[in-house]
Amino acid sequence: MLLKEIKEIFHKELGEIYPKEEIDSFFYSCIEHYLKLERFILAIQPGITLTKEDEQPLFEALSELKLEKPLQYILGTAHFMDLELEVNENVLIPRPETEELVQWILLDTEQSGRVIERSRNDRSLQILDIGTGSGCIAIALAKHLPNVKVFALDVSEGALNMARKNAASNGVDITFLHEDILSTELELELDFDVIVSNPPYVRELEKNEIQKNVKDFEPDTALFVPDEDPLLFYRAIIDFAENHLSEKGKLYFEINQYLGEETKALFHARNFSEIELRKDMFGNDRMLKAIKK
Ligand SMILES: C[S@@+](CC[C@H](N)C(=O)[O-])C[C@H]1O[C@@H](n2cnc3c(N)ncnc32)[C@H](O)[C@@H]1O
Repeated sequence: MLLKEIKEIFHKELGEIYPKEEIDSFFYSCIEHYLKLERFILAIQPGITLTKEDEQPLFEALSELKLEKPLQYILGTAHFMDLELEVNENVLIPRPETEELVQWILLDTEQSGRVIERSRNDRSLQILDIGTGSGCIAIALAKHLPNVKVFALDVSEGALNMARKNAASNGVDITFLHEDILSTELELELDFDVIVSNPPYVRELEKNEIQKNVKDFEPDTALFVPDEDPLLFYRAIIDFAENHLSEKGKLYFEINQYLGEETKALFHARNFSEIELRKDMFGNDRMLKAIKK
């Protein structure tokens, strides 16, 4: 079949679900991924024909797209900053808002070489990512801050397996910890100069705001928190940071856009100062930073 006919079939079959530009993007990502064909191929070879064997993965991807499965899960890869990461349904697909959080940490850390010097006991600066998922935050930090020792923690063994693979394929060394941050029995004989977390923060009541492709395919344990206690992860992480963040150490959170002030208020009467709330590129309260006194 002609490649351009397959493109038309993508538009016909997906036209009721997705905008035209998104279908084009799906189609070109698929031909690039499965056939290593550049997106301009149709402009220079409009008559290009595929064998039955080459067509097959494209039609398989199309069937999954019709079920609104995210393209990243179909292809098994996602991009985060300059990284290519493997993803499956055990991990959240990394989001652009999270890239902004990493940029904030990188800027702070790189700007003050002092942060690195300040690290105590002659050891290198230590960073912990809580709820690492695909490993996106931890791997990006390890890649851009080569002198830093990075730890990444998750309760999900499936997520940790994926994060380990991603660390290896991106050539960084990370210490992975299989722990439950909510457990009262969590004991770690480590302290950190930076703790970062993008924990689950979507309330059940926000479920109907969420697109079907997120709700049906991304892991519930990565996303949802109970309506009656939506900040439970933040409280647990602040408790943990009280004991495991070094003096002047920094805590960075990605947060629920509707709960910015409430999340900030968790720091009242705690051992932290300079609490700063930041908006993401869409103008939503999305990030928070606090410094341990
Ligand atoms: C919102 S996802 C963030 C994933 C990744 N850091 C990112 O930014 O794309 C939250 C992560 O927290 C993990 N998680 C959920 N409950 C946890 C717990 N009790 N202890 C540790 N990690 C937990 C989930 O498995 C998931 O990987």
